Amino acid sequence: MERFEKSEERFEEAKKYFVGGVNSPARAYDPFPIFMERGEGNKLVDIQGNEFIDYSLAFGPMIFGHVHPKLKEKVVEQIEKGWAFGTPCEDGIEFGRRLVERFGSIDKVRLVNTGTEATMSAIRLARGYTGRDKIVKFSGGFHGAHDSVLIEAGSGASTHGSPDSLGVPEDFAKHTIVVPWNDEEKMKKVFEEKGDEIACIIAEPITGNYGCIPPEPNFLNLLRDLTEANGSLLIFDEVITGFRVSSGGAQEHFGIEPDLTTLGKIGGGGFPIGIFGGREDIMEEVSPSGDVYQAGTFSANPVVVSAGIQALKILEEENVIEKANRKGEELRSKLREGLAGEDVLVQGISSMFSLFLTDQDEVKNKQDVKRCDLEGYNDLHRELAKRGVYFPPSQFETSFLTHLHTEEDLERTVEAVERSLEVLS
Ligand SMILES: Cc1ncc(COP(=O)(O)O)c(C=O)c1O
Repeated sequence: MERFEKSEERFEEAKKYFVGGVNSPARAYDPFPIFMERGEGNKLVDIQGNEFIDYSLAFGPMIFGHVHPKLKEKVVEQIEKGWAFGTPCEDGIEFGRRLVERFGSIDKVRLVNTGTEATMSAIRLARGYTGRDKIVKFSGGFHGAHDSVLIEAGSGASTHGSPDSLGVPEDFAKHTIVVPWNDEEKMKKVFEEKGDEIACIIAEPITGNYGCIPPEPNFLNLLRDLTEANGSLLIFDEVITGFRVSSGGAQEHFGIEPDLTTLGKIGGGGFPIGIFGGREDIMEEVSPSGDVYQAGTFSANPVVVSAGIQALKILEEENVIEKANRKGEELRSKLREGLAGEDVLVQGISSMFSLFLTDQDEVKNKQDVKRCDLEGYNDLHRELAKRGVYFPPSQFETSFLTHLHTEEDLERTVEAVERSLEVLS
């Protein structure tokens, strides 16, 4: 591993201070993670000067690439003025207005610091608004690292969930019902049995945390119908998809309006952000106007807000989403062509995709993903890195494109995948 020996050595040092050598488990992979030093557009450069075409994009946020000059300029300008006041700031208003204009289903928003905080608060709000405790999530659906959603399916998929992490009380887990993604029958059954106890369904409208799995036709309509008929709320967790799939998120793409939406990642231009918002009558229940408590020292931090406004402007001015979507289509079709006959499934939508190492024709849920060659994906990740292509380090993550990926980048990527699979076969 001469090419990456400095990363190996730094990882040994990092392990002395950080558990597992990292500050978020998704960053740890075998035999050691590559330490990046800088980003430039759609490229990353590691601490040994190796350059990579980036398809991880910091797990999603960097849709218009690293160190966009206009974003940098705006953030530096704000830093000159100060970076934490603990008071409202004027930029916050512009950001709020832009968000409300973008999403038809959102009348009001609350800015927070991470996607985790956004989903945690939205679920509390759904419980407060409906006066019910139970929530429904999907197996493999990730909504951040908090107690209500760190729950996976038990053996009977639509029974009460069991905690996915030590430290989550059983008493808490029993309120989270877990259903397989895209399973209409199980979903209907859950609502037949417990509809009047369910505060909300929380769903990534396109799952991105068990690889990229779009919804089956009409599945999102079913979620909308069931929640409406049972007085439950529908939360779309668009932390990944919100500013990526179309300008009004996956909800605009599929034409389904949720009651609440959670956002993050791209929305802060790469700075830490979370956002939740939705229908006025529901949002009015949030403190200080209502009794569902939510607060944060760094919420609507002036630097993050200025980065967020600039991010939304760049998305529009450079037509980023549409261009990235076209790159996504192009790469998927080039990969399918190049990998015809191999046991590799190229699946995706918009500027999101996954390479599943499998002979299945379609991956529809977590169970299907588990049947893929998960170890093989880890090897593929490492082989690709050796060839200057950086994919996210796990089969469970989704790969992303920017609008900056060039024809040459896409061709180099297909070639790197072909060579890597040859070496690994
Ligand atoms: C769909 C989804 N929701 C929520 C989160 C949590 O966001 P954060 O990591 O900013 O807390 C993530 C993180 O990847 C996510 O993919």
